Amino acid sequence: MCYAIPGKVVSIEKDIAVIDYFGETKKARADLVTPQVGEYVYAQGGFIVNLIPEKEATKILEAWKEMFFHLKQSDEAQAKIREHRVSKEFKIIINKAAQTSNLTKDEAVRLLKTTDSEELKLLFETANQVRHRDLGNACCVHGIIEFSNHCTKSCSYCGLRNQNTNLQRYRMTPEQIINVAEKATQDLGFKAFVLQSGEDEFYSDDMLVKVIKEIQTKCGALVFVSVGNRSKKSYQKFYDAGARAVLIRFESSNPKIYSNVHNDSSLEERLQLIKNAEEISFLIATGSLIGLPNQTEEDIVEDLFLTRELGTEMYSFGPFLPHPDTPLANQSKPSLDLVLKTLAVARLLDPEAKILITTALETLVPEGKRLGLISGGNSLMINVTPQSYKELYSIYPNKAGTKDEIEQAVDSTVSLLKSLGRAPTDLGV
Ligand code: 5AD
Ligand code: SF4
Repeated sequence: MCYAIPGKVVSIEKDIAVIDYFGETKKARADLVTPQVGEYVYAQGGFIVNLIPEKEATKILEAWKEMFFHLKQSDEAQAKIREHRVSKEFKIIINKAAQTSNLTKDEAVRLLKTTDSEELKLLFETANQVRHRDLGNACCVHGIIEFSNHCTKSCSYCGLRNQNTNLQRYRMTPEQIINVAEKATQDLGFKAFVLQSGEDEFYSDDMLVKVIKEIQTKCGALVFVSVGNRSKKSYQKFYDAGARAVLIRFESSNPKIYSNVHNDSSLEERLQLIKNAEEISFLIATGSLIGLPNQTEEDIVEDLFLTRELGTEMYSFGPFLPHPDTPLANQSKPSLDLVLKTLAVARLLDPEAKILITTALETLVPEGKRLGLISGGNSLMINVTPQSYKELYSIYPNKAGTKDEIEQAVDSTVSLLKSLGRAPTDLGV
């Protein structure tokens, strides 16, 4: 987004470029856009997505210079671990996590089960410190376009499920989707888009290929696809068209919990989709829902370990929020602490991961975005779906930001990131 800093390519080897940001270097894949050494680029999610003329880049860098160092200092000052009175046994696990990230499942469960206020503070601060230590203050912000709320599936937790007849359905045309991305790029400087919909076969592969190609080339942006169950061939077409990332949650790694909330797909099929995407070399964003019926802390730890095993670069873990027009309407939502603990343990298990703060966390509590960012998170999405459609994409009720104008959402996110000392440098590969 507008909160973005260009970098200078200092070397390239086998499609991996080293990019300098005010003396700090990050790596990025150079297969989508191929720069020369010495050129200025924007990178997103570990991919170079756009070249920028030197004159323009140096002007932007000049404007950023002072702020960049100020943000760095501010993050450093905030990412401190204070003294907390915790048991020796808890301290040993935390120290081990910070030093090696090699926790056993039992140790991860111990962290996730704590309700002691001092232990919680130590856990969140350690996760924040590990994030700062390994990735600095880089933070990525992507725009999400929810282009259709039609869905053939009937996941028990989701308001878009096909049995929900109380919902007015919409589809954006390919032109509308491309226009939204172009406008968000031109007016607000977004440089990455997630194209998300229900499972909607109305959009043929060719239609999506056209949308991906146009957005990638016209906007110079990283394109994520989040369209669910399609064949490996289809995903390969999306990759060839210029998409480089997929967002596919496995929702729960426990086959019993999975089948309890999905009567029309199996966990195996879901995992196969993610493995296909990995084989195509997509950046993978995946994770699970926190708070599904009968889920235990042990299940969440299994979800975190599975996410790491799947070769995931980006963790997407968010709270389940009950929707009144679904079979899970009366299920309770998880506590804020459980969600924050999950993000913190994810950070300790995978220090270099991109860890997403979901809109569902913001919906759970208004402070969710800030709290997530100081408990291990370093990646955000802003909804850029046109206002009239946004409220119809009701996977859960009262979604945060639904009433905000996009400009307002961008302004408040930028202020939040500045207050936390986070800079829009790419997180790298
Ligand atoms: N609460 C929170 N997240 C939900 N999703 C669907 N329904 C809900 C809900 N009620 C999430 C799913 C899906 C993503 C697009 O939305 O995890 O992967
Ligand atoms: Fe459809 Fe996705 Fe909702 Fe399931 S979670 S009903 S697949 S939109």
